[in-house]
Amino acid sequence: MDSLTPPPVDTTEALTRRYGADAVPPAGPWNETIAVMLDHRSVRSYKPDPLPPGTLETLIAAAQSAATSSNMQWWSAVAITDPEKKKVLAEIAGGQKHIEQCPLFIAWVADMSRNQRISDAEKTAFETMPWLETFMVACIDAALAAQNAVVAAQSIGLRTVYIGAMRNDPIGVAKLLDLPHQSFVVFGLCVGYATEKGDGEVKPRLPQSTVLHHERYDAANEAAQRKVYDAEMSRFSARHELQAATWTQRVLNRLAPLKSMNGRETIRASLAKLGFEIR
Ligand SMILES: Cc1cc2nc3c(=O)[nH]c(=O)nc-3n(C[C@H](O)[C@H](O)[C@H](O)COP(=O)(O)O)c2cc1C
Repeated sequence: MDSLTPPPVDTTEALTRRYGADAVPPAGPWNETIAVMLDHRSVRSYKPDPLPPGTLETLIAAAQSAATSSNMQWWSAVAITDPEKKKVLAEIAGGQKHIEQCPLFIAWVADMSRNQRISDAEKTAFETMPWLETFMVACIDAALAAQNAVVAAQSIGLRTVYIGAMRNDPIGVAKLLDLPHQSFVVFGLCVGYATEKGDGEVKPRLPQSTVLHHERYDAANEAAQRKVYDAEMSRFSARHELQAATWTQRVLNRLAPLKSMNGRETIRASLAKLGFEIR
């Protein structure tokens, strides 16, 4: 483990970091894998250090080890190290400099083109292709694969940040990466070693009682639990000089104005141009 801030070995400490002192769930079974997962934080400041040989292939092996719907393997990944390409991608993402900084950027592709090629080669129309269900499965497969790569990266001391802002301009990204019809980048992923200052801190999550329901969904105490989380996130925001203090304020800022979608509200039309017929 080569990480700047190794994950805590103490279960309670790890859970306290994840939830804050006021919402620590009971501790259960524990091991290094779980410690690595709970230590996750997105990193937006990378050293230029290259990754050891074979790292990309290890991450992809981890990604390919994820479950995949009916073993259809509806995803591909494009590894990008070319500084010029990363510069264009950073611009598409609204100037996210970490895309240029990180030694490896992986574009995760919901890829229906490969199975379409099988349809063409085998001269068999795939009636199941142009449906929302199939498109969702492709996106789900890509996300599960990417998250396996993220956990693998963290376990060898690397940090990552997902870049959903690839969807600001799915057509521009597809052109840059020569994607075939019926494939699109669901999100990117920066991979690299965090700078000392940039390694940050575990960002607390909602109390478990908000997201975990037993036998039936019950939101009766949600407002009270949100107050607890708002207080925790206020303390986190103060430590990191973030603008929106509470989580509630973040939700309002992110979800109320349409402009916060950065153009992604047009994604249905973009997907149609990329060859996705979604019924
Ligand atoms: C699908 C997805 C897309 C994301 N896109 C971006 C992005 O474009 N830029 C960015 O800085 N962070 C992005 N993030 C990171 C989230 O902001 C981050 O996961 C969240 O704030 C929680 O923080 P943490 O990952 O440090 O726990 C994305 C995360 C996900 C899961």
